[in-house]
Amino acid sequence: MKSMRELPLAGRRLFLRVDFNVPIAEGRVSDTTRIRETLPTVRAAAEAGARVLCASHLGKPKGKPDPKYSLAPVAVAFAQLLGRPVRFVDDCAGPEAERAARSLQDGEVLLLENLRFHAGEEKNDPEFAAALAALCEVYVDDAFGAAHRAHASVVGVPRLVSEKAAGLLMEKEVRELSRLLEPERPFAAILGGAKISGKIETLRVLARSADVLLVGGGMANHFVKALGLPVGRSLLDAESVPLAREILELCKKEGKTLALPSDFVVGKSPQDAEGARTVGISKIPDDAMALDVGPKTLEQFERLLDPVRTIFWNGPMGVFEHPPFDRGTRTLAMLLADSDAVTVVGGGESVAAVVQAGVADRFTHVSTGGGASLEFLAEGTLPGIEALEG
Ligand code: 3PG
Ligand code: MG
Repeated sequence: MKSMRELPLAGRRLFLRVDFNVPIAEGRVSDTTRIRETLPTVRAAAEAGARVLCASHLGKPKGKPDPKYSLAPVAVAFAQLLGRPVRFVDDCAGPEAERAARSLQDGEVLLLENLRFHAGEEKNDPEFAAALAALCEVYVDDAFGAAHRAHASVVGVPRLVSEKAAGLLMEKEVRELSRLLEPERPFAAILGGAKISGKIETLRVLARSADVLLVGGGMANHFVKALGLPVGRSLLDAESVPLAREILELCKKEGKTLALPSDFVVGKSPQDAEGARTVGISKIPDDAMALDVGPKTLEQFERLLDPVRTIFWNGPMGVFEHPPFDRGTRTLAMLLADSDAVTVVGGGESVAAVVQAGVADRFTHVSTGGGASLEFLAEGTLPGIEALEG
């Protein structure tokens, strides 16, 4: 990948694909991590005299405009953090966007409306990609978090623009996550989060490449079920249980440690703080759901992580947005912050937990990519990275 630093930018219109897919609550950005992580790229481009057109998706608006997914609140937060004005344009392609692009001055920054307001984005439609490419002379991709999506703004536009490069965040992400492809050993992977589907390839790869695999969150329920134990009313995607079984067998065959929670904090629902209690792995009651990992599990995880030299973490250990079920995720965040190992965390919710616990700066790397970091670990590359190489 070429670096943005190698491209002449002065006076040129730069299409900067960013991942501003950030959480919005009551019309305001509630976690600005992804915006802040992209600021060095935007500043460097503006200072080099580029005319910067930032473009992002937000949520899943299904290919047509939907005010709920407007990037307008993001433009406000972006301008504040950047400390310069940011012009906001109601559409990312077509006459209005073209007019705005033509009127940009050197060093000015603009944010285009949600790319997914056009159906062509997710379909990587060639006409839509051409409409985006028509806005610029140079293409830079800084949207690591979206680089696993073969969408028009990620793979279609760079095919049409001859001068293309990676932004500073993209470079940093690829450099840091590449360290996990040949990790200092022992290497531990900690996986949590609600779902197991979508993480299948990563699980298979990590079952081979990691020395220790620790599983928590909703993902663990599938392994508990695969062992033939009851999971009560816990979150479970029945179709994924055979995969959990496959991973258990794979780890056994490869002589890998696969650590499941030995205890869970259960309740009637995520709102049932009062009813929270700790039970052993084989004792999840029929009318309860596993909502966090228990204290024994955390002790066991701490022991297993002690000798480890590299740790990758994706996905919370419980429903951490509902205390007291946040305890496992918070404790794990503290544990990794205190570790001397190379520590990398990826994924919206686990990153949010690390940021909320105030320990983000004590991690080796906090990735802005969730699905992207998992897929990068499994494949060693991503569609968005390949598009910059071609
Ligand atoms: C993310 O938040 O995972 C990225 O921005 C990609 O978004 P998507 O999962 O909606 O494609
Ligand atoms: Mg996602």
